[in-house]
Amino acid sequence: MTVPLLERYRESLPFDASTRIVTLGEGSTPLVYAERLSARFGVELWLKWEGANPTGSFKDRGMAVAVTMARAQGARGIVCASTGNTAASCAAYAARAGLEAVIVHPRGAVAASKLVQVRAVGARLEEVDGSFTDAFDHALALAEREGFTHVNSTNPYRIEGQKTAAFEIAEQLGAPPDVLALPYGGGGNTKAYARGFLEAGGDLPRFHPAQAERREDTVASAIRIVEPVHRQEVEDAVARSGGAVVTVSEAELARAWRALAHEEGLFCEPASAAGIAAVAQGAAQPGERVVCVVTGHGLKDPEAVERLAELAT
Ligand code: F0G
Repeated sequence: MTVPLLERYRESLPFDASTRIVTLGEGSTPLVYAERLSARFGVELWLKWEGANPTGSFKDRGMAVAVTMARAQGARGIVCASTGNTAASCAAYAARAGLEAVIVHPRGAVAASKLVQVRAVGARLEEVDGSFTDAFDHALALAEREGFTHVNSTNPYRIEGQKTAAFEIAEQLGAPPDVLALPYGGGGNTKAYARGFLEAGGDLPRFHPAQAERREDTVASAIRIVEPVHRQEVEDAVARSGGAVVTVSEAELARAWRALAHEEGLFCEPASAAGIAAVAQGAAQPGERVVCVVTGHGLKDPEAVERLAELAT
């Protein structure tokens, strides 16, 4: 049997010997070599397939740690704001831990399948008229009022859990890659990878976080965030590693999504193709070893498929 993620990296995580871990079998995801995309872009391209996590996105890594710690610290319940994936993960791990969960989301802005995931495991949904940032503020206030633990990525344990993906990549390749390209919404995941690669030792890959040009209304609803809460840390990681933030258009996102699906057979949600779009823009030099983090499963947002097909033409 494989060793559970949080046991494998226990020494690098904020647990003590008595902490009872809340797990659904997250992490230990495949790193898939992308033969056709490598040839197309003239690089050695690997895909860190985070859609293989229990609720279908990378959020499960951080949520396992945050919910473990919330329960250990005697939380009454947990609350988060979300564009959908944090929501699905928060709800599932709360159910697993026997905790109440409240999910706050911007009205009309979350893919239906993600809301289904939340309802299925019995969490409470609250809609807010406004942006992701409005939902975030609402979640904070609710946490304070009800004495719930706030489990957005400003919760330090989320970042601790998400950094394990960098550990895995360094192990899977035997060393950090030259370039890491990943979607950039609030920036928590970029911050987590930067910490993970620093702790893993070796050279930092050049970071290329890819944000939607149309942050406020992109087809990639997962990264529909106008004000990234971790912007400073993202800029630090980019500067320290010699990378750059990449901005991708809707058509670039859609073409990257289609290339991943048609040429590699990997079906992800729209936001998750952003790293590929960054590589298509020339984020890596010929022959370099690149990892694109493919953050969430395509079944998360089936309604987007037709729209993406139109945008890609
Ligand atoms: N990819 C997917 C599929 C996401 O759901 C998110 C963020 C990101 C990338 C961006 O990661 O915010 O750490 O830069 N989703 C959050 C949510 C906002 O609520 O599920 P980031």
